Amino acid sequence: MAEKCEEVESREWYLASYAPEGVPTSDNLKLRTVRLSLASDSIPDGHLAVELLYVSVDPYLRSRMSGRLDGLDSDQYPLNQVITAFGIGKVIRSKDSEFEEGDVVLHPYFPVAEYCVMTSHMLKKIDPKAGISLPDFLSCLGVPGFAAWVGIEVLGDPKPGSNVFISAASGGVGMFAGQLAKLRGCRVIGSTGSDDKVKLMKDEFGYDDGFNYHKETDYDAALSRYFPNGIDLYLDNVGGKMLEAVLNHVNKYARIPLCGMVSQYNKVWTEREGVRNLLNMVGKEVRMEGFMLLSHLHRFGEFAAAMGGYMKQGKVKSKNKINLGIESFLESLASVFSSSNHGKLVIQVKPYV
Ligand SMILES: NC(=O)c1ccc[n+]([C@@H]2O[C@H](COP(=O)([O-])OP(=O)(O)OC[C@H]3O[C@@H](n4cnc5c(N)ncnc54)[C@H](OP(=O)(O)O)[C@@H]3O)[C@@H](O)[C@H]2O)c1
Repeated sequence: MAEKCEEVESREWYLASYAPEGVPTSDNLKLRTVRLSLASDSIPDGHLAVELLYVSVDPYLRSRMSGRLDGLDSDQYPLNQVITAFGIGKVIRSKDSEFEEGDVVLHPYFPVAEYCVMTSHMLKKIDPKAGISLPDFLSCLGVPGFAAWVGIEVLGDPKPGSNVFISAASGGVGMFAGQLAKLRGCRVIGSTGSDDKVKLMKDEFGYDDGFNYHKETDYDAALSRYFPNGIDLYLDNVGGKMLEAVLNHVNKYARIPLCGMVSQYNKVWTEREGVRNLLNMVGKEVRMEGFMLLSHLHRFGEFAAAMGGYMKQGKVKSKNKINLGIESFLESLASVFSSSNHGKLVIQVKPYV
């Protein structure tokens, strides 16, 4: 047990080389084992030793591995250093009076590792007995839930009866965005990458309807069928051809919060798909707006209270895909760029006991 040891071995992922294009591979991301001292005198004041429990796997991590600024304004991971991600851990040694051994803590930049020693700055305690599962703190109450809330509640702000379209609808952001739009009384349609996931988003997340974009490859025709009265709000998670097709169906004053463009992340910008019909935005007076969660952090408390309430009342459901073991990180990251996941992807590094 790590709690009793003065030293542990910890596996950690580091970036050996940047991946300017394509899905990062084992040439770029490597796993190594390091030894960490847990002896009290080796942990500086204000620091903690933490055993990682869960790591959140999000598409934006890829943009930190390209070796260049690529539109998401993300800092690049330094080469040969352990990479970081949103995560949850358990305190196993503490040199900060605000934290004690056994506390469960959340951090936006945990090392993607089994153990770490880190400053307590930005660590937030969470209550594992709050009636919310630990992975849900990374999904419903984490990055995807907050992104869905900002996209729908803050920037989209749809009226009851609005026609709402959401891409990557069965992923982390999409599953919550659809449910939030339904709570607003909207008609909600989604696109996703398999028939099973179309069924999932209708049966579990309350979407009115949706389509498999791998099968219905004429997006313009699909949107004509699903939106005979046009689109009032499009939460864009994928960009590219889908965004272009949407612009042919927008209603007057439609809103398009740009959450992300996962279909474009593995391409250098000169190879990315352009959008040819931006002119439709002029005539229809459309508001298209990119957003980053960091700019909305002052509203996180409001979001967490609302979303936590919906969860407890059963008004919002979450589905998490849990991969096991820190060694699954590379495969997990690659899977974000396929249609193989449903819901929010989280790695369980260690079970919480
Ligand atoms: N702005 C922000 O602050 C913020 C915060 C969080 C997330 N985001 C963005 O929101 C989007 C969704 O994130 P998420 O957390 O929901 O991700 P996620 O749960 O990991 O889902 C990603 C999904 O995107 C779909 N996808 C992958 N490659 C695609 C392609 N080439 N074309 C179309 N769909 C593709 C896949 O589902 P299917 O193919 O089966 O549909 C995949 O499961 C991403 O663009 C992400 O960067 C932005």
